Amino acid sequence: MESDMDRILISREQIARRVCELGEQISETYAADEQAGLTLVTVLSGSLIFAADLIRCLPFRMKLGLITVSSYKGTSPGQPSLIQQLKVDVRDRHVLVVDDILDTGATLRLVQAQLAAAGPKSLRTCVLLRKPDKAPADVPAEFVGFDIENSFVVGYGLDYNDHYRNLPDIGVLKPEVYEEKL
Ligand code: XMP
Repeated sequence: MESDMDRILISREQIARRVCELGEQISETYAADEQAGLTLVTVLSGSLIFAADLIRCLPFRMKLGLITVSSYKGTSPGQPSLIQQLKVDVRDRHVLVVDDILDTGATLRLVQAQLAAAGPKSLRTCVLLRKPDKAPADVPAEFVGFDIENSFVVGYGLDYNDHYRNLPDIGVLKPEVYEEKL
């Protein structure tokens, strides 16, 4: 699997350090208002591994919610669709959306609209990766792990046709891998 990688953009060590830093930033934002209650909403499937690591850097009480959105086929963005709705009530609670990557922003635009309609006390977004050349201004992310180049990346939860999520680093695949039918 690692031999399919063309280059590593972000190593597992860099990821681990940055996830802890994000945890500190997020804790500073919410810890003072712990009583109001935070619900952290993970956007599946891509942010599964990121969210699992991030929540263990947040040393205060919180609830978890899951939402599943599908958008990419291979490396081509499609129209995002909601596969599984949020099943917990977030009315009057602080909500932090956790997603793997802010690319075109179509997915997070849909998720943010859904959650805003549920009447939260506040709504913020944390992404591990952002492609600043593409991320649109109307889709805010208050917490960002890394700004990256405009390439299709895999690893640490991010997939190509559902493969490579279990790679511990984040990188770009060799061009010939994208041409294979995985
Ligand atoms: P958008 O374009 O809607 O992307 O901001 C959101 C979702 O699409 C997936 N995505 C990627 N997956 N490498 C991936 O493995 C990428 O470079 C990439 N860009 C977008 C991802 O699931 C993200 O949540």
